[in-house]
Amino acid sequence: MTEPITFDGRVAIVTGAGGGLGRTYALELARRGARVVVNDLGGAVDGTGSSESAADRVVSEIADAGGEAVASYDSVSTVEGGEAIVKTALDSFGTVDIVVNNAGILRDKSFAKMTMGEVEAVIDVHLKGGFYVSSPAFRVMKEKSYGRLVFTSSASGLFGNFGQANYGAAKAGLVGLSNVLAIEGAKYNIKSNAVAPIAKTRMTEDLLGPLADMVAPEQVTPMVVFLCSEANEFSHEIFTVGGGRYGRVFIATNEGWFAGADGAPSVEALVDNMDQIRDISDYVIPLDNNDEIMLLGQMLAG
Ligand code: NAI
Repeated sequence: MTEPITFDGRVAIVTGAGGGLGRTYALELARRGARVVVNDLGGAVDGTGSSESAADRVVSEIADAGGEAVASYDSVSTVEGGEAIVKTALDSFGTVDIVVNNAGILRDKSFAKMTMGEVEAVIDVHLKGGFYVSSPAFRVMKEKSYGRLVFTSSASGLFGNFGQANYGAAKAGLVGLSNVLAIEGAKYNIKSNAVAPIAKTRMTEDLLGPLADMVAPEQVTPMVVFLCSEANEFSHEIFTVGGGRYGRVFIATNEGWFAGADGAPSVEALVDNMDQIRDISDYVIPLDNNDEIMLLGQMLAG
């Protein structure tokens, strides 16, 4: 059996922790000994408005259960907001060990109708928010050679979903960010992973149909809590989590078709080999750029 996962002495920031999934992460991390910054702007699902009550409520819940937490009402969507969130952790608890980038909003529209305002609002919170909070935190983590980062992706970004061009692009972008931080953080014991959750929250209750009542946020919590822990040695990975299913999503490439080193094939020759180009019966999961370049290198070397 695995040793109990605890967070004594650890400081965690959970963004968007005033409700939904983030609240469950904050509660469980605190229950297991972490001191937690409960960050939430407290606005509506579309990101409009703000209120201190969402974060305050979760801080009270943690305190009532004997845990330690502090509220932060800053928005993840600005440089200053991200810095203020990390500063709250440093001022209140002296450091930061864990960041769960979870805050999120929706502005769904089919692409032909989507305005650039709707694109920017969503990219600002999800993708830029991931940078704004993780960047000051990463510097602290690098200095102390310890850190755990979790980014919240989504099936909408990994696989696509109608009406979510803005959201899907942001959520796929976070995987790119997580992958690079996993590589850059490796020698500092900073692990970075992404999760794609499925859970009934105010964001999804109208979207999930009959599935809604079978996917509780608490079923996602164990994976995120594990990824935040010292026991987690995995990095650079994507986990899909919902309704009791825990799986891995991965970005892989096949051997493909090697046309030869000299000259470029004609378009027709390429088309003739489309089956082999698309064949995924065999694949590798490159862990960085070089892994893929090595694959080509082997072919070029014959
Ligand atoms: P939620 O709406 O309950 O939680 C999101 C929280 O983020 C809210 O409390 C909101 O006030 C906060 N927030 C929004 N903008 C903020 C900002 N600028 N700064 C700080 N806080 C802000 O929704 P849910 O479902 O708990 O979402 C959590 C994360 O999981 C989001 O990133 C969402 O996109 C993602 N997700 C959720 C899925 C689901 O099935 N519930 C599916 C895939 C991804």
